[in-house]
Amino acid sequence: MGEKPDEQGIHQWLDAEQFPEHLKKYWFQRFKIWQRYHEGIWMTEDSWFGVTPEPIANKIATHIAESAPKDKTVIIDAFAGVGGNAIAFARSGRWEQVFAVEKDPKTMKCAKHNAEIYGVDKKIVFHTGDCFDIIKRFMGKNNIVIFGSPPWGGTEYNADNVFDLSTMQPYSLDTLCKKFSKLSKHIVLYLPRNSDLNQIARYASEGKKVEVAHYCILGASKALCVYLGDFNFEGEAEEEGVVSAPLEGQSA
Ligand SMILES: C[S@@+](CC[C@H](N)C(=O)[O-])C[C@H]1O[C@@H](n2cnc3c(N)ncnc32)[C@H](O)[C@@H]1O
Repeated sequence: MGEKPDEQGIHQWLDAEQFPEHLKKYWFQRFKIWQRYHEGIWMTEDSWFGVTPEPIANKIATHIAESAPKDKTVIIDAFAGVGGNAIAFARSGRWEQVFAVEKDPKTMKCAKHNAEIYGVDKKIVFHTGDCFDIIKRFMGKNNIVIFGSPPWGGTEYNADNVFDLSTMQPYSLDTLCKKFSKLSKHIVLYLPRNSDLNQIARYASEGKKVEVAHYCILGASKALCVYLGDFNFEGEAEEEGVVSAPLEGQSA
């Protein structure tokens, strides 16, 4: 795809020389992050920190597609970034509608362009704005799954200790659950791999379990997903690169 970015702050880095020094490690990972990187993927500098690598995005998309109740036919990616997850949802073919919400207009431009590279731009409805406002438009519908890969608030989550989800910036786990649960009880959150599981377990409905899956590359967990609601993982075979476990529910 020959199209070039038309705005400052959006980049199509096809050459190591131009790549910012402080992001260098991502240059070496570019094809792990986007298998079609060389076809002209657009990124902002910030988006390198948060984009979901394609193999993980595809695995998550498969898991949600298979485990969500069949009457859930719409998925909203509330923090779409440059499109990593939304593209995977659209490619899965499972959803009647995929919505991608992103508040930063430049990041959103990248998401639209990247979706075009993957041939799914017409299968995603893009909304630029605040997800907490935009989801209000969907109130009253009961066929929705909300997916959220929120900002984690810097690189603190990289420390060895347990990550306190009440301090996650700018949105704590509690804020996300409270706001999203007004629209749907089927919520999937992509969180730091060292997130506090006790905090997560509090969001299980009484007597129910919450599924937590670690997504791994080369044997190391990159992140985890929390599945809140009636996702059905029963009968699922153990898969390479995924470790999952149900957490016992307590009242929230
Ligand atoms: C971790 S990144 C998401 C990455 C995405 N999953 C991907 O693969 O590209 C989080 C994104 O959420 C956006 N964001 C933060 N607050 C938001 C809000 N209230 N509504 C919509 N987007 C928001 C940020 O601009 C950022 O692009």
